Amino acid sequence: MFMDLIIKNGTVVTSKEMFKADIGVKDGKIVAIGSDLKDDGAKTVDASGKLILPGAIDAHTHLAMPFGGTVSADGYESGTRAAACGGVTTVFDYPMQRKGHGIIETVDAKRKVAEKEACCDFAFHCCITDLNDGAILDEFKDAVDYGVSSFKCFFVYKKEGMMVDDATFVKILLKAKEVGAITNLHAENPDMIDLRVAQYLKEGKTDAWYHYMSRPEFVAAEADKRAVHWAQNADAPLYIVHMSDKEGLEAAVKAKMEGAKIFIETCPQYLEFTCDVYKRPDGRNFVCSPPMKGQESLDALWQAIKNGTIDTVATDHCPFQQSEKDWGLNDFTKIPNGCAGVENLYPYMLGAATDGKISYSRAVELCAENPAKIFGCTSKGSLAIGKDADIVVYDPKKDFTISVKNMHSDYDHTIWEGTTVHGYPVQTYVRGSLVYDNGEYVGKPGEGKFVKCAPVKF
Ligand code: URP
Ligand code: ZN
Ligand code: ZN
Repeated sequence: MFMDLIIKNGTVVTSKEMFKADIGVKDGKIVAIGSDLKDDGAKTVDASGKLILPGAIDAHTHLAMPFGGTVSADGYESGTRAAACGGVTTVFDYPMQRKGHGIIETVDAKRKVAEKEACCDFAFHCCITDLNDGAILDEFKDAVDYGVSSFKCFFVYKKEGMMVDDATFVKILLKAKEVGAITNLHAENPDMIDLRVAQYLKEGKTDAWYHYMSRPEFVAAEADKRAVHWAQNADAPLYIVHMSDKEGLEAAVKAKMEGAKIFIETCPQYLEFTCDVYKRPDGRNFVCSPPMKGQESLDALWQAIKNGTIDTVATDHCPFQQSEKDWGLNDFTKIPNGCAGVENLYPYMLGAATDGKISYSRAVELCAENPAKIFGCTSKGSLAIGKDADIVVYDPKKDFTISVKNMHSDYDHTIWEGTTVHGYPVQTYVRGSLVYDNGEYVGKPGEGKFVKCAPVKF
């Protein structure tokens, strides 16, 4: 068969096994996996000594998001360019539905921008902030038909107009379940945060450490448990984003074991840093919500990564510029919440595999296969015949020290500065097209395509 591209002599990694094989690509799809595939004039790439992986799916990014008095520093072009350069071939973004506006209207506006700018494929979870007297619930089915089968709720960000109450959350859970969609949730207790913030400000405790102190472990755990309780009672699927605390994690895992349709995401920042970062002179740069927690939580998250109870690792990529982070030098409440990460996700998790903490197959399951399965990306997430040729060539011997200077985003600092990972992607292909090659972005903005997610059923 004539093929466009053959990646030869590499070790293919799936969530189940690793084996030596060539991969053949035609018209953006994987058409052959086997030994000694014949060239027939196809472009060939020698991947001897390299791993061949499915492109990662970053299920949690905020691109060009108005937030914290500004807009997140990466738009669709720079955010997806950075994604591609870190081995991410699909990002999920979070358009924000606002009072009086519909879901498809909201998503369409983002899609139009992304179609012009995106350097990798993109899909959407739509954040729901107001039910518009029930009209929004009636639109859920249309959204699923459109290809958005995932909705997001926030238990926080009251004054930003993003918070939903418990009754709204339960209505969303039930309607999502009915139409074949899944509900995502940011779980922290907003009233406890407000109470504690007011107290610290009154006492003049204004440095970054008090961001952590105003939303410590038990503030997240209460909300995690409440959400799990409602999802379990509604028998509805729930995806808890950016899990960061041990107590909440344990409650979610217990419900999972009892048969609840609970899915758990964590992020590299909660696996690498503890709340001690907020005591550093640059502590404000690490301000994100939920904040990094104590060592016990970090250890519990790693244990769940290893034992299979965490389902996905995504980034919550939401960078802000240094000058914006500096707004909070003397008042932690003025620091825009969020950090960079999309380019570091796969290298960090694969690096953990190179270091022997987890297997490469587990890293692939967490970063590619599981997000594809949970969110209905039927053509993505694994190396198999018929799937999109979203492929990463990874050199397990290449060490890489992360610096803002060698990232491909628009932000001007990173919490990952100076972190060394063992092993690094050397090439990324999006539907068979080379977009990243040995340190350089080589694709064309606008070649990323909208991923129509299938309805989900659990
Ligand atoms: O601090 C964060 N995580 N900013 C982005 C919005 C969110 O809560 O996910
Ligand atoms: Zn969040
Ligand atoms: Zn987020």
